Amino acid sequence: MATPHINAEPTDFAPAVLMPGDPRRAQRIAESVLESPRLVNDVRGMLGFTGTYQGKPLSVMGSGMGQPSFSIYATELFSQFGVERIIRVGTAGGIGEDVKVGDVVIATGAHTDSAMNQLRIPGVSFSAVADFRLAMAAYQAGVEAELGDRLHAGTIISRDHFYFTPEGQTDRLAHYGTLCVEMEAAALYGVAAEFGKQALAVLTISDHLLDHSADMDASERETRFQDSLQLALAAALS
Ligand code: HPA
Repeated sequence: MATPHINAEPTDFAPAVLMPGDPRRAQRIAESVLESPRLVNDVRGMLGFTGTYQGKPLSVMGSGMGQPSFSIYATELFSQFGVERIIRVGTAGGIGEDVKVGDVVIATGAHTDSAMNQLRIPGVSFSAVADFRLAMAAYQAGVEAELGDRLHAGTIISRDHFYFTPEGQTDRLAHYGTLCVEMEAAALYGVAAEFGKQALAVLTISDHLLDHSADMDASERETRFQDSLQLALAAALS
């Protein structure tokens, strides 16, 4: 039984799904880490694959950019395809002074300027937080990989705008210990809470908002991405 955005059978997805923003990255992850990957979705080119990793079933699918896109896929995967945990693997712009290009951020919580979670519980500021056990598994993997001070865990912000930022907002976020900015995690955490499922975002810092001197080019993004992928895989199979 297909959904409006996923033309797969109900059993086509593994209980754990890794979700990068870019469907081509989903394909590269599937081809590099999955044993016998098979294509399970191609609606709108949002490629999704299922195979096994270290003998356990695992799926990888693109999410597209932004919270509305992520929410559509997360909702359909959790509600119609038996998915139990979604781990976003993506890039983010550094905000915190200690966060450097190439570092890995485990997003334990996500502020947002989006209205999507505001609508969830009338009169309440929804707390968009990661599943604690998934975060712990990813952090443990980062410690074992000896990432040292390249490993961070804490709050991030999921913004709706990529190109527009209210004056002074980034400085205030930095003051409050916000590590980095991306565009999806808060929505993922909201949808996971709605369906009683598990979610986590593991992010690679691809550029820094307060210092552009070390921003990565496309090929560097791909290589440095491997660290966060390893942490996400550890969380997915924990
Ligand atoms: N803003 C939003 N998303 C991002 C950024 C950014 O600066 N860098 C990587 N993803």
